Amino acid sequence: MITFKKITYKNFLSTGNNGNTIYLNRTPSALISGANGSGKSTILDALCFAIFNKPYRNINKPQLVNSVNEKNCMVEVEFEVNKTTYKVERGIKPNKFNFYRNGDLVPQDASVKDYQQKLEDILGLNYRAFTQIVILGSARYQSFMDIATWERREIIEEILDITVFSRMNTVLKSKQEIAKSMLDEDEKQLAIYETMLNAQKAIISNINKRSKESTEKIQEEIVKTNGEISLTRQRIAEIDSDMTAIHQPDSLLKNLREAVNSGKTKVRELARIHKEKQDRISFYEVETDCDVCGQEISEDFKADKIKIIAEDKAKLEEAVPIVRERHEKSIGELEAAEKVASQIQDLKIKKVEENNNLQTLENYSMTLTKNLTIDNSDSDMQKARDESFYLEKGITNYNKCIIQGKEQLHYYEACKILLKDTGIKAKIIKQYLPAINKLVNQYLEKMGATYSFHLDESFNEEIKSRYRDNFSYASFSEGEKMRIDLALMFTWREIAKLKNSVNTNLLIMDEVGDSSLDAEATETLWDIIGDMQDVNVFVISHKANNADRFRTFIEFYKHDNFSKIKDSK
Ligand SMILES: Nc1ncnc2c1ncn2[C@@H]1O[C@H](COP(=O)(O)OP(=O)(O)OP(=O)(O)O)[C@@H](O)[C@H]1O
Ligand SMILES: [Mg+2]
Repeated sequence: MITFKKITYKNFLSTGNNGNTIYLNRTPSALISGANGSGKSTILDALCFAIFNKPYRNINKPQLVNSVNEKNCMVEVEFEVNKTTYKVERGIKPNKFNFYRNGDLVPQDASVKDYQQKLEDILGLNYRAFTQIVILGSARYQSFMDIATWERREIIEEILDITVFSRMNTVLKSKQEIAKSMLDEDEKQLAIYETMLNAQKAIISNINKRSKESTEKIQEEIVKTNGEISLTRQRIAEIDSDMTAIHQPDSLLKNLREAVNSGKTKVRELARIHKEKQDRISFYEVETDCDVCGQEISEDFKADKIKIIAEDKAKLEEAVPIVRERHEKSIGELEAAEKVASQIQDLKIKKVEENNNLQTLENYSMTLTKNLTIDNSDSDMQKARDESFYLEKGITNYNKCIIQGKEQLHYYEACKILLKDTGIKAKIIKQYLPAINKLVNQYLEKMGATYSFHLDESFNEEIKSRYRDNFSYASFSEGEKMRIDLALMFTWREIAKLKNSVNTNLLIMDEVGDSSLDAEATETLWDIIGDMQDVNVFVISHKANNADRFRTFIEFYKHDNFSKIKDSK
């Protein structure tokens, strides 16, 4: 139950700085009267402005400020919801919007819109419902019958207190969107992870293949190298045996060289001596004088000398072939020995070469064997395995999230069906529609209407009247329309009371009884109002002739261009 207690406003429209206060829950019925322009309807604008930041009439905010004082426009409204008192302050020049709970300021939200929403949530009423349930005005009153079916739904949802389902639906929609985009994201990520895992698997199999291939190659190479090693060893052994076979003492060559040299000297010496002997013989045969003393040499002496020298020469000629033969033999022996020595040298060089070769092959074989022991656990493989492990973990997680996300969406989908207009709300509305229609028709009957009203589940009306079956709301007279409007308003209030939803003490009617309603209907209206329980009705009228039907009388008048309240009974 919302109990409006008091409204105070100053510098608002025609009201001046001294302000006006109206207590809203002190009298069951009040007649607000006064001349045209005295400031009666101002109360509707003040109320709507304070609570909804929007006046009842179509007046823009700067125009609400009193045109004489031009500042400090301020409206305060006090109300009570569930034994908690609230006070709203709203002003222009300076701008102000605060509300208090039991005297304490309710902290402002970051945005004014949120703060406003908080206030409306407390009231459980929005502007549209408020102006259908609390106010029945002449100016700018928009009949329920003149509004679109979606707006009708909004009002009925407020009255039946089922707006929570619409709000849940809004929340659900955004949750659904978030869940959907999260699911999309998870699915995208899963696809990426799966692609990445496949790539890692390909890397691992490549590394495995490569390593198998290289092991086989290394093993082949080791066999080949070991073969070459044994061949080399074999060759070295052969060199060794060759060397043993053609071994000759180092002294032999020296001795042979010496022998050749001395043989050579000897041969040369023998040739020289032989030539000398020959020359001497030739000298004695040709010359007559001694080549030393110059004395004449006798023929005998010459013959003797020639004989002796010839004998020596003959001996020499006998010895020369022997010496030469011996010398040539030595030369032959030396040549043979030198050939052997050169063969030995060649073998030695070859052996060194083969040994070097062996060393290289053995080193190579060792390196190959070592490479064989470096297995697949090289860093690339480890990296690929680590990465795969991480990706597999991610895939498991994403799959889990996707299952959860799908479940969540499924659940949201079920909620969506329930929260749709055709879901829970439709059920509740369907339950209440007969009561609504019954009440409307009861009020219409009370006010002497000769037509019946029926609202269907889509909030389309059907007004049945004898001979006027095709009539719509617009076809009716103003007084007939007013009866429908009133019947609907009373119905909403009763339903609200039943539901304890937007049930409120306040009812303000502006010039309802003044124009369209005939005297009989007006009387019935006052009767209905008189019968209402727990209501504070304010009837605005510039005709004061019904004053006796109201407990209180509030009269507005203008003084110095400012609207004031004269008196109350
Ligand atoms: N900004 C303003 N400053 C001062 N006066 C204003 C301002 N805006 C409107 N007014 C005047 O306020 C007066 C009060 O209007 P209101 O609608 O409350 O009168 P009313 O008593 O309901 O009259 P009626 O019986 O004709 O409906 C009017 O005279 C209007 O011209
Ligand atoms: Mg008025």
